[in-house]
Amino acid sequence: MTAVKWNADLYDGKHGFVAARGGDALDLLDAQPGERVLDVGSGTGDHVAALRARGVDAIGVDASPEMVARAREKYPDHPFEVADVCGLGYHGEFDAVFSNATLHWVDDSYGATEAISNALRDGGRFVTEFGGSGNIQRVVSGIWRVRSELGLPIAIHGFYFPTIGEYTSTLEEAGRFQVDAAWLFDRPTPLEGPDGLVNWVRMFCADLIADVPDQDSFFTRLEETMRRSLYRDGHWWIDYRRIRVHATKGMH
Ligand code: BEZ
Repeated sequence: MTAVKWNADLYDGKHGFVAARGGDALDLLDAQPGERVLDVGSGTGDHVAALRARGVDAIGVDASPEMVARAREKYPDHPFEVADVCGLGYHGEFDAVFSNATLHWVDDSYGATEAISNALRDGGRFVTEFGGSGNIQRVVSGIWRVRSELGLPIAIHGFYFPTIGEYTSTLEEAGRFQVDAAWLFDRPTPLEGPDGLVNWVRMFCADLIADVPDQDSFFTRLEETMRRSLYRDGHWWIDYRRIRVHATKGMH
């Protein structure tokens, strides 16, 4: 997948729900004061700040220098590093790893799982939530339909949206994890403002629209196509579907 150049203003402004919606997964992590916790894909830092406010020794890593810069600006006393999940390079330092809305961006789920497992001590917890099988299917189908109407070739997204079976097998094989619990559930999420759908697609699906010559008319058609299924109660909604997992390292 083409690397996304994250726009931290847009992320915090119009897509602030990304961090806010990770709250349930953070509750599932149940981090205790004094525990060392690694937040993989820490974005603009809100989960690290929430954990540290509870006395947890949390640090954040994110592959995007823009996001890390914004996290450091927002929380200058908290530790944030630029790092790709597959190249983490930690060895048993952490009691828990947390990751929200990140792992669907990572092509190499096997490598990511190995690196996360390596960062944990034996018995350490891994809690993650990200896009699961069927995530954003309506939006992607709408984009495909409009592309086809405009005579554009098929464009494939490169996101990793696994089923529970696929992902839990990877956790067991690549990370020696015991999977304690796993869920796959719909989470339709309202987008902000009348341009919510357009802003979302521009920010997150750039690969699927990069070759569209007239973007304005593409988005007008996309909104017409999607209005019946994704616009209600005065909002655009995105059809998120989440996979959420709680796993423990090395407990077989
Ligand atoms: C998600 O959070 O599910 C997501 C975000 C951006 C692109 C694709 C999926």
